[in-house]
Amino acid sequence: MNNQDLINEVRRKNDIVDIISEKIPLEKRGKNYFGVCPFHDDTNPSMSVSREKQIYTCFSCHATGNVFTFLMEYEHKDFNQVLQDLATRVGITIKGLKTKKISTKYDEWYDIYNLANKFYQNNLMSKEGEAARIYLENRHIDKDIIKEFELGYSLSGHDDLTKLLTKKGYSLDLLNKIGLTVNDYDLYHNRLMFPLHDLTGKVIGFSGRIITSGKQNKYLNTKETELFKKGKLLYHYHIAKEKVRVDKSIIIMEGFMDIIRASTINVKNTVATMGTALTSDHIKDIKRLSTNILLCFDGDEAGVKATLAAGELFQKEGVDPKVITLKDNEDPDSYILKYGEAAFRDLIKNAIYYSDFKIEALKNKHNMASSEEKANYIYEVLGELVKINDPIRREIILKELAKNYEIGYNTLEKSFQDLLTKQDLKKPIVIREKTAPRKEKDKYQKASLSIMYYMLNKQEIIDLVEEEHLVFPTEALRALESEIVYFYHTYGFVNEADFYTYLTPKVELVNLLAEIISLDLKKEITKSELFDYFKVIREYNIKLSIKKLEEKIKNTHDPLEQVKYAEEIRKLRIGEK
Ligand code: GTP
Ligand code: MN
Repeated sequence: MNNQDLINEVRRKNDIVDIISEKIPLEKRGKNYFGVCPFHDDTNPSMSVSREKQIYTCFSCHATGNVFTFLMEYEHKDFNQVLQDLATRVGITIKGLKTKKISTKYDEWYDIYNLANKFYQNNLMSKEGEAARIYLENRHIDKDIIKEFELGYSLSGHDDLTKLLTKKGYSLDLLNKIGLTVNDYDLYHNRLMFPLHDLTGKVIGFSGRIITSGKQNKYLNTKETELFKKGKLLYHYHIAKEKVRVDKSIIIMEGFMDIIRASTINVKNTVATMGTALTSDHIKDIKRLSTNILLCFDGDEAGVKATLAAGELFQKEGVDPKVITLKDNEDPDSYILKYGEAAFRDLIKNAIYYSDFKIEALKNKHNMASSEEKANYIYEVLGELVKINDPIRREIILKELAKNYEIGYNTLEKSFQDLLTKQDLKKPIVIREKTAPRKEKDKYQKASLSIMYYMLNKQEIIDLVEEEHLVFPTEALRALESEIVYFYHTYGFVNEADFYTYLTPKVELVNLLAEIISLDLKKEITKSELFDYFKVIREYNIKLSIKKLEEKIKNTHDPLEQVKYAEEIRKLRIGEK
């Protein structure tokens, strides 16, 4: 079996409806299945999944593709990883399969970051790295952990890395642009280096920590680039995403060292931000892995603040995370060092819901000796209860309140119901998102896209288009047409889902295909409607020929030639009418 056949078999054995419904709830409506699109801020189910065609399409953000592209996007994996996962699922073994590498303009960046990463790692093990090695030893970080987290060390010279990379042929401009050098010199000196990986595991920057106390910033990050955005990056996500599947939960911490320490006791379902507040982008990527989320921030005042901020954000996104509180100003790193694995695992087990944590935190805001403040507190708690969807938990909390503050349960329950009705009235009516605007297409492009839409659905139309020798108006359209024809002649049919896989390395064509598939055209087309589209393209072809002849007239000085071209133009113009 050749590569393409094997890939297609893996795709066919993994039904797209089954796979997607494991990630997001799908509801059957007519022939298709619908779900909330995970690729944009969707509130109404805009994503349709077709069992028949084995593709998905979002009417709102236009995300489209097959089971491979869905998982690549959803799990931030590359094609080969997804192929392996799906093959394993259905018991197909794939060995040494070479798929085409998708080359992007960032390949060079990745190569450079990888070289820098190796360089820093080697430095740590060299003679010059001794101080850093001692620092790590004092913090109980052993060789295995150094290797696992690819820790490194930057040298004291001003251009050690710069020299290495320029010798390899990389320009100083590029090195400055991607943040490894500043004004042609190394950015990092004498720092313990932590490589930063994107969600798929590629190195896209570094953070360097000082190893002696001084007045410099403790951590120095690579500047933000097209690849590295602080508000998107989650440290350790590329490892956590595998572990979350086993542990069925994800733990969010504050610092790199916390993540590293937790890893030493085999708690690896962890991520950290770059010391900044969580953003809704972070939350989206976290929720994709699991909605069983634990916040484990530092046990100081700042940590409590961060917990409250993160908790509110998660609740807004419909998740009630759990909270692990560390006493005595400990952070996960120091807590685990002091009390050990069992104690930390107990903390995980005993984590409380954020809503309970918040209710506790609200108590500290009020002076409970005053009846007025006590009442305020109770109203605030009721406000929190509204956010809890679980009726049993609501009742438990109401009963506790009634008992603790000696209020009749019925009084409380009624106040709560009143609040609920008020909130319901206030809730905005959800307005269906408008379709994202696309660049206006001219009539030639529109006709081309429509023709290709039907080429993908009806093989006879491929034959008709071939017979017509139509020349489509853009290079991308022509390339896609020839790929459709090639695929058809190779396999004897065009099936959108396999065609997707086949096109995957050609990003521009995949985007074009997505656009075509998400066109909202009727299913059948009559011959005369099709010929109307052909006519539009032919009109374009004639215009093109005329333009070429006009060029020729301009470029020749032979009057006979000029007359000949003019005559050709005249004939074309007549034909055009
Ligand atoms: P240790 O102090 O070595 O235990 O490191 P830590 O990772 O526990 O750091 P800490 O808890 O002090 O801070 C949490 C996170 O905030 C760090 O992991 C960094 O991402 C970030 N951070 C802390 N200090 C700085 C700084 O000076 N500059 C920048 N850019 N980020 C920082
Ligand atoms: Mn720390």
